[in-house]
Amino acid sequence: MATTITITGAGGQIGYALLFRIAAGDLLGAEEHVRLRLLEIPQGVKSAEGAALELQDGAFALLDDVEVTDSADTAFDGCDLALLVGARPRGPGMERGDLLAANAGIFGPQGRAIAENAAPGVRVTVVGNPANTNALIAASAADGVPAERFSALTRLDENRARAQLAAALEAPVASIRNVPIWGNHSATQFPDVSHATIDGRPVRDALAERVGDVPSWLEDTFIPRVAKRGAEIIDVRGSSSVASAANAAIGHARDWVRGTEGWTSAGVVSHGEYGVPEGLVSSFPVESVDGQWRIVEGLEIDAWSRARIDASVAELVAEREAVRELL
Ligand code: NAD
Ligand code: LMR
Repeated sequence: MATTITITGAGGQIGYALLFRIAAGDLLGAEEHVRLRLLEIPQGVKSAEGAALELQDGAFALLDDVEVTDSADTAFDGCDLALLVGARPRGPGMERGDLLAANAGIFGPQGRAIAENAAPGVRVTVVGNPANTNALIAASAADGVPAERFSALTRLDENRARAQLAAALEAPVASIRNVPIWGNHSATQFPDVSHATIDGRPVRDALAERVGDVPSWLEDTFIPRVAKRGAEIIDVRGSSSVASAANAAIGHARDWVRGTEGWTSAGVVSHGEYGVPEGLVSSFPVESVDGQWRIVEGLEIDAWSRARIDASVAELVAEREAVRELL
C-alpha cells in the first residue's frame, strides 16, 4: 500500500526541491509507493499544479498519485507523513522569530485539519519558520494526536555543523558523528561538539591539533558560522536556503520512519529532559527507534554548554509567550 505524504507550500521553492526527490524514493526507499497531496493557498495553486505536471512527466515508478488542493481537509485526508513547509521565508536583516506574526496563524488550522483527517499514526515535520514554535502551535491544535507526532526541523543546522567540522578537520563529513543541535532553530541555537567523534575519536582532540585554542574557535568561529548560516545564505543567494533545506527535511523524515544509527537532531516536545520546560518544542540529540523520536538522555553538560542551552531555551519560552493565545 502507498504512503500518503502531504506537503504544504508545495508550490514554493522548498516544495519544488522536495517533490521530485520524494517521488524518486529518497524518503521512503526504493520499494515504497507514495501518494502526494500538495497543499497551497489559492495564489500558489498554479505553481503546485505546474509541479504536478512535471511529476507526471518524471514517470516515477513509485509515484501512484498526485493531488493539488487549497483545502487543508482534503490535503490531510489519510495523511501518513506531513511536511509543513508552507510559510513566509525571511529576508535580509530579519531574524526567524520576526516571522512569528506572519506565520503563526497558519499552523493552528493545519494542526486541527491533521487531527480531523490524517491517518492514526501520522507524523508531522514542521519546516516553516520559526519552526519550533510553529510545531508547538500545530501540536497544540491537533486534539487527540500525541504531541510526539510533531517535530521541527533542525537537521539542517546539524548538517551545517558536521560540514563545518569536516572542512576544519579536512575529513570526510561521514566520519563525523554525534553533533547535536540544542534549543531553537535560530541564531541562539547551540551546535554541541562535546560528544562528537571523528572516526570514533573525540572531535575536540582532533580540533586541538588543527585550530589550537578549541574553546575560542568554537565561540568565535564555529558556533556563529553554523547559527548564522541561514542569514549567510540569504545574503549570498538573495533568498533563503532551498535544496539544503529540502535535503535536511528528507533526512529528518526518513530517519523518523526508518530509524537511525547513532544520534541526530530534531525539535521535539520536551517532557523536562535536560531541564527544558515541559511542553516546549526544543532541539535535542535524538534517536529514532520503532518510528518514534527518543531524546538521548544522560549526557554530561558542562557549565559553558548549559548556559548556551539555557539561552536558546529562554528564547523558546519567549516565543511561546508571544503566541500564548494560539495555544
Ligand atoms: P516560498 O515562499 O518559496 O514558499 C512558501 C510557499 O508556501 C508558497 O508557495 C506559499 O504560497 C505557500 N503557503 C503560504 N501559506 C500557506 C498556507 N497557509 N498553506 C499552504 N501553503 C502556504 O518559501 P520557501 O523558501 O519554500 O520556505 C518555506 C518556509 O521554510 C519559510 O518559512 C522558510 O523560512 C522555512 N525554512 C525553514 C528551514 C528549516 O531548517 N527549518 C530551512 C529553510 C527554510
Ligand atoms: C535556514 O536555516 O536556512 C532557514 O531557516 C531559512 C532562514 O531564514 O535562515
